[in-house]
Amino acid sequence: MTQHHPKPILLTGASGKLGRMLTKALTAHGWHLRLTDISAFPDPLPPGAEFTRADLEDGVTILKLAEGCSTILHFGGVSTEHPFEDIIGPNIRGLYHIYEAARREQARVIFASSNHSIGFYDRIHSITPEQPFRPDGYYGLSKAYGELIGRLYWDKHDVESIFVRIGSAYPEPIDARMLATWLSYDDLATMMTRCVLAEKVTCHVIWGASNNTRMTWWHGDARDQIGWAPKDSADPFAGQMAGKVSTNAIAESHMGGAFCAVGYSRKARS
Ligand SMILES: NC(=O)c1ccc[n+]([C@@H]2O[C@H](COP(=O)([O-])OP(=O)(O)OC[C@H]3O[C@@H](n4cnc5c(N)ncnc54)[C@H](O)[C@@H]3O)[C@@H](O)[C@H]2O)c1
Repeated sequence: MTQHHPKPILLTGASGKLGRMLTKALTAHGWHLRLTDISAFPDPLPPGAEFTRADLEDGVTILKLAEGCSTILHFGGVSTEHPFEDIIGPNIRGLYHIYEAARREQARVIFASSNHSIGFYDRIHSITPEQPFRPDGYYGLSKAYGELIGRLYWDKHDVESIFVRIGSAYPEPIDARMLATWLSYDDLATMMTRCVLAEKVTCHVIWGASNNTRMTWWHGDARDQIGWAPKDSADPFAGQMAGKVSTNAIAESHMGGAFCAVGYSRKARS
């Protein structure tokens, strides 16, 4: 379905895995995308898209890129666990630049948050977005910060946000954990169109997972408010993924998986 969206949409992280996929999917709707990334855009630019190479740490350029935009899809930044010093610039200072731009433009922010903001919950639980953050590393901490800065800008400046706590957005599941956390590319793309088109948004959380039977960990998000429901499921991959688990007990018992085990130094408790 082609839907005309009059104002441009800024997409950060455009040269990344999800950014490239979303560029294709959203320009196919006839939308005008302003793409940006610190790395060159690796694909031919589709009609309706323009690309500017920029560092999220460069606040002046981010302000310029956001001029006249209705929405910012913020997918740029360090996307896996790294030392704090690698995260703080792109992810923390970068988020401040994105929210300042959103405030200036009164643009809606759709933030690619992560399950790693709550990664230290045990998999036996089922949690709602109201429960406290339990980041599983510096990366997850930066995602929690993103959700908090979004809340500040809503409470103080009326900036609308949707925080998508993405599970595992991959072409297909690649291990047993993803039988719960997998989010298909199609489900992510339809979610993004709903996030952009939803009439009224405040400060919402959406769990980014497909319709997986094993997704018992997360419930109670704002999908009904934006009119999104996943269509795909990891279930048909269950046979192939059986036994694709690590030998690390910390990774296997927590929602955040392998990220929880990075640098883990807590003593075993009785
Ligand atoms: N893929 C997943 O399963 C998943 C899960 C949870 C959250 N996310 C989030 O979704 C977003 C996209 O994920 P992805 O898998 O496409 O990751 P990716 O690493 O492929 O893409 C991230 C992009 O951000 C860019 N970037 C990094 N530092 C930058 C800087 N200083 N300035 C400008 N651009 C910079 C990179 O060049 C890269 O193209 C990320 O924010 C990630 O944290 C992804």
